[in-house]
Amino acid sequence: MDLSPDPEFTAQANGTAEMYDEAEADHEGFWAEQARQRVSWSTDFEQTLDWSEAPFAKWFVGGELNVAYNCVDRHVEAGNGERVAIHFEGEGGDTRTITYADLQREVAKTANAIASLGVEKGDRVAVYMPMIPETVFTMLACARIGAPHSVIFGGFSAEALRTRIDDAKAKLVVTTDGQFRRGKPAPLKAAVDAALEVGKDEGSVTNVLVVRRTEQDVEWSEGRDVWWHDVVDDQPDTHEAQPMDSEHPLFILYTSGTTGKPKGIFHTSGGYLTQVAYTNAVVHDVHPETDVYWCSADVGWVTGHSYIVYGPLANGATQVLYEGTPDTPHQGRWWEIIEKYKVSVFYTAPTAIRTFMKWGADIPGKFDLSSVRVLGSVGEPINPEAWLWYRKHIGNDTAPIVDTWWQTETGAIMISPIPGVTTLEPGSAQKPIPGISAEILDDDGNPFTEAEKVGYLVLTKPWPSMLRGIWGDPERYKETYWSRFGEKYYFAGDGAKYDEKGNIWLLGRVDDVMNVSGHRLSTAEIESALVSHPSVAEAAVVGATDETTGQAVCAFVILRGDAVDNGDETVQELRNHVAKEIGPIAKPRQVMVVPELPKTRSGKIMRRLLKDVAENREVGDVTTLADSSVMNLIKEGMSGDT
Ligand code: WTA
Repeated sequence: MDLSPDPEFTAQANGTAEMYDEAEADHEGFWAEQARQRVSWSTDFEQTLDWSEAPFAKWFVGGELNVAYNCVDRHVEAGNGERVAIHFEGEGGDTRTITYADLQREVAKTANAIASLGVEKGDRVAVYMPMIPETVFTMLACARIGAPHSVIFGGFSAEALRTRIDDAKAKLVVTTDGQFRRGKPAPLKAAVDAALEVGKDEGSVTNVLVVRRTEQDVEWSEGRDVWWHDVVDDQPDTHEAQPMDSEHPLFILYTSGTTGKPKGIFHTSGGYLTQVAYTNAVVHDVHPETDVYWCSADVGWVTGHSYIVYGPLANGATQVLYEGTPDTPHQGRWWEIIEKYKVSVFYTAPTAIRTFMKWGADIPGKFDLSSVRVLGSVGEPINPEAWLWYRKHIGNDTAPIVDTWWQTETGAIMISPIPGVTTLEPGSAQKPIPGISAEILDDDGNPFTEAEKVGYLVLTKPWPSMLRGIWGDPERYKETYWSRFGEKYYFAGDGAKYDEKGNIWLLGRVDDVMNVSGHRLSTAEIESALVSHPSVAEAAVVGATDETTGQAVCAFVILRGDAVDNGDETVQELRNHVAKEIGPIAKPRQVMVVPELPKTRSGKIMRRLLKDVAENREVGDVTTLADSSVMNLIKEGMSGDT
């Protein structure tokens, strides 16, 4: 199969081979050019990068801009107000077409409304919403007044919501009465009520702004709760965007780390916007005048922030926003949407592709997908089989696939082929994009280039959309990312290797972070949820390989002496308990009740051995266990395997 670029594609591509050389020759000069070309600054910057307080970076120092102005107003001013910004498609089939001129009015009204609720520059706003246009309006309205948003994925529980609201000390929470999930309304505000009830005394939240979406009954806290239609609808539809410093915080987004406490990753304005706009243009090859772009991620994750809200809107692109699941009301729903809107650039996750493979190629085969010209993948390694299926059945056997490696922390795409430039290699993210530098290190921290040797991925130069820290915890930022291999290297937490051609292959996390359907979950967080159950004495969680979800959560628990093991019932109860504590995405696939856990003499749980059990393998070397008979006990005594 010839996977070299098609000359016709190359001729129109936004990315060029020269960009690699330009960035190589002058790293800062390259980024300064991207910043001036892709972003409108109200005050130009004086210095491209200030790395004097490394690892705390400042990009485009002295520059001022308003991110929402860049994503909305400037397109209207340039005469593109009538261009569609968002084709909204609700799960039930309700639709809404929002032009850039509409978006400008809606964002202005929302900004006026949240300002009227007392939200000022620097205040934090928590956003707990489904995939509806009001979510985008809210994020942009926050950006407009300089109030960092903290979007919390709608699948998180009240408990998870509470810790995130408290950590950021949010002043306002924006939510909806409910959301549509598989054809049925499900409550959403109820979780906000529960979250705020628990934190009542020391709570920072003064108002909850509620969009009516499902029209289900909600509890109402007078004085605190306000309806969107009461406070937004009558606001003036103009709002003066104030310029913000390039380093003004744009958002906080919580992600799982190796400890139980989620990390509030925060991003700032100028550098972030530059890199998301650049990558959406060069990696997704979006041409705003002609393409229809669709990213199927949820806005609750970084992919939704960078590649639904900020990247495509900064570029003035037209995109689809879809509320629902891929199989409601039928398994061809996504392909129907591509056909309907003539989607030309499509960005999704390997777990979705593997699910579609299982459902069968005849389903997309019933739809006209001829508009598709670029495909993207993100969230976890895409296995070559899924890559080939994706290209053949969704990409008309011609669309280049960009396998994009990046993280919540990196803010934007870092390693990926450039369509029209790179000869593709199914299964590999290939190489750092122009302006980004990566290496693979061995255990001693030495870079190597030999093929097929496994090491650790590190980034070697600061980049504009890098995280600026962990909210409220600068030490943890240094320790987590800049200490494993010394302060010169950003440690990504991923294993990687090169192939014979020099392509980089990502091999999954090397720390205690799991990747389930592209969602990051920490083993420690799930373990602490399990031990918070009155029946559980100890718990160990591992991510076991799973054909569809990449990894699946497998938990091993020791019950307390006084707890009764009711077999299946206990297992179900524990699974549900995790869903309640963290959210349904964290629900273990398996819970195994065991008499002991394998521990080293220093008391560290040997997850490697538990992984062998969870993946049905012969158990590996047990010689470092304090008690080497434990593994036999575990295998014999497993009572709760589901
Ligand atoms: C994994 C999602 C292989 C990786 C944007 C990373 C990938 C983590 C890829 C970040 C890819 C993401 N190939 N692995 N193309 N993309 N990952 O923060 O382990 O939710 O560290 O950001 O996902 O997940 P996060």
